[in-house]
Amino acid sequence: MEFSLEEEHEMIRDSAREYAERVLKPESPEWDRVESLSDEGLAAAAEAGFMGLTTPEENGGAGLGNLHACLMLEEINRWDAGMGVTLSVHNSLVCSLLVRHGSQDQRDRWLPRLASGELLGAYCLTEPQAGSDAAAIKCRAEKVEGGWKLTGTKAWVTSGDRAGLYVVYAVTDPEARKGYGIGTFLVPATADGLRPGKKEEKMGIRSSTTTEVLLEDVFVPDEDLVGDPLGGFKIALDALDGGRLGIASQALGIHRACLEDSIRYAKERQQFGKPIAEFQAIAWKLADMATALEASRLLVHRAAWLRDQGEPCTKECSMAKLAASRACNDAAQDAVQIHGGAGYTTEFRVEKYFRDARITEIYEGATDIQRLVISRKILR
Ligand code: CAA
Repeated sequence: MEFSLEEEHEMIRDSAREYAERVLKPESPEWDRVESLSDEGLAAAAEAGFMGLTTPEENGGAGLGNLHACLMLEEINRWDAGMGVTLSVHNSLVCSLLVRHGSQDQRDRWLPRLASGELLGAYCLTEPQAGSDAAAIKCRAEKVEGGWKLTGTKAWVTSGDRAGLYVVYAVTDPEARKGYGIGTFLVPATADGLRPGKKEEKMGIRSSTTTEVLLEDVFVPDEDLVGDPLGGFKIALDALDGGRLGIASQALGIHRACLEDSIRYAKERQQFGKPIAEFQAIAWKLADMATALEASRLLVHRAAWLRDQGEPCTKECSMAKLAASRACNDAAQDAVQIHGGAGYTTEFRVEKYFRDARITEIYEGATDIQRLVISRKILR
């Protein structure tokens, strides 16, 4: 049994930390205010190799694993959770999906452009009436000569207004039993009939844009259907195992931000003649936050390691997300409390961490969906 990171893991973590402190730390408050990442910030992430981390070297990526991606994402989310989810969706739900399920031709055509950052990836599964019940999607893919015609409305799409390539799920056989007549399609932003719809005004992760994506008779050639035309739902769920690791890593990053800022504040802030860190009421909160962070990290790293070994890991990915997102929200609550009135203002970043933390228990499978996945596995 080995608990220490390999040199390559440490290199990725250190380079993500350097990028995050140089680019995200100064820019994050402004991006939060204007509700957008800058093109320069994304370009710098691509330049650092973070958009092709898990893409094979032959397709222009770094050829690394899920554990590397988790380490990178914790560092990015330490300073900007909007950039964190943007990179998580791009890497886990688009690039890794293509690596795991795409044909050689699809990998060769799309991955180099995704890995270089020329194209940002988006994942279009959810619809207004199909959130937790993802198999209930209605977006329709009709077979036509040489391909498929897609019509429908996708909701809550991360990077919906700036992606270059959309992974779109649509019903290929409405007569099939639920979850069995769904296809996975690759749709470039340039496709006629695809356009971003309403942009959500969000509480947190505001630098990442979230929009509807509207599809009206969008033609997708046969070569951009991924896998079996009826088997897309399993591809969606497999990709989400990896996506949940990304969101669990986001929770680690926000949790760490809460802890680090709270330690600094508790040592500086004086009340009753001494730093508040010297009161057990504060010190014990910090101890609990630090312990919960370590526990979450172990769950996340183990699940990522299992996925890298090609082992079944659905339950472990859900456990990692369930525990890390819950602990992150507790930490955000305590961080604001430790900062008192100051923590309720924009002068300190903990109010932003508090807003950002909330989404980790909602997207890529809400907390109760993780419990559903885990309970089905242990009761089977
Ligand atoms: N990998 C591969 N196959 C899987 C799987 C996995 N992880 N999990 C289940 N399957 C298989 C099942 O074995 C089953 O196949 P068989 O019938 O052949 O055994 C099939 O897929 C269907 O599975 P279920 O019967 O479990 O399906 P269900 O309809 O009961 O739904 C669910 C399961 C877990 C509730 C699922 O709908 C779910 O995860 N919902 C949450 C949706 C979600 O996470 N959405 C996130 C949207 S993306 C997003 O938020 C991105 C963003 O931009 C941030």
